[in-house]
Amino acid sequence: MTVSPFIEHLPKAELHLHIEGTFEPELMLRIARRNNVPLPFASADEAKAAYNFSNLDEFLSIYYQCMSVLITQDDFCDLTCAYLDRVAAQTVRHAEIFFDPQAHTSRGMDFATVCNGIRAGLDYGRERHGITSRLIMCFLRHLEEDDAMATLEQAMPFRESIYAVGLDSSETGNPPGKFTRVFAQARDAGFAAVAHAGEEGPAEYVREAVDILRVQRIDHGCRVLDDPSLTSELAGRAIPFTVCPLSNHKLRVVDTLEQHPLRDMLDAGLTVTLNSDDPAFFGGYINENYQSMQDRLGIDDATLASIARNSFNAAFLDDTRRAELLAQLDSYLNTR
Ligand code: HPA
Ligand code: ZN
Repeated sequence: MTVSPFIEHLPKAELHLHIEGTFEPELMLRIARRNNVPLPFASADEAKAAYNFSNLDEFLSIYYQCMSVLITQDDFCDLTCAYLDRVAAQTVRHAEIFFDPQAHTSRGMDFATVCNGIRAGLDYGRERHGITSRLIMCFLRHLEEDDAMATLEQAMPFRESIYAVGLDSSETGNPPGKFTRVFAQARDAGFAAVAHAGEEGPAEYVREAVDILRVQRIDHGCRVLDDPSLTSELAGRAIPFTVCPLSNHKLRVVDTLEQHPLRDMLDAGLTVTLNSDDPAFFGGYINENYQSMQDRLGIDDATLASIARNSFNAAFLDDTRRAELLAQLDSYLNTR
């Protein structure tokens, strides 16, 4: 996909990005070899050929397999640095990054190894590229709430490194309400909160995420449109939605990108951002997600600029950095 110069240089924030989903096959094979652990793929081409999914669960099964080659703190640091090196060239100025601690602690890793490795990568990104970041710890919704509660306890010594909690993994049959207590405890401890909702699951899960988990943003959320009164309520409250078109297409939430509901979400007055989810698996990083919506839905440059503005307004930024990034965006738009 050819990315237009306008999109390439447009300052933007990434708000929906799983760091384990940035694991490119070349780096995965290198780390697997270094750690002497087996992978089901012998080459990068073989891996990419296996990235054909008919739903979220089929993807998740490969995703958890791939990340199991990550063993040392340096592995997590290398993964994070590689992502930031790549998106520095996509004019990403700020990134809010999910990680899945339970996918690592469940295979015997220390929480500290994972968190400190990612943290070191984020520090590198700020020093080398000036990219600011926030780290968001996701609970795996296919596991029990007690497991999430234990993970929250493990995270407390890393309170300064982790800004927010989130909720991801297998959505159907795992409603937000299953995690009422752990989100309440996390909010009491000062964490911000977001949740995946309405990706494969119904609009009702979006309502639960907002009303019961009291999240500040909805990840994906396209299915909110099935409930017009909820849609207008969330439009009125300007709850941000972190939409990921290439993900929705690869996981067959939509059959074609032309059928993606982005324009309907915009027309409904929702606050929408564009993001990449698991770019190593879904065929594109943030700029390819912007470009795909221009190519397939005819979303014009002015609308993409307003989506980039939403990304800074919806980010967990302090006032100074937010003002700085909005000024960078204005200056970019004014000098064109
Ligand atoms: N949905 C749910 N869980 C996930 C995803 C997703 O798109 N990516 C990584 N974990
Ligand atoms: Zn996601």
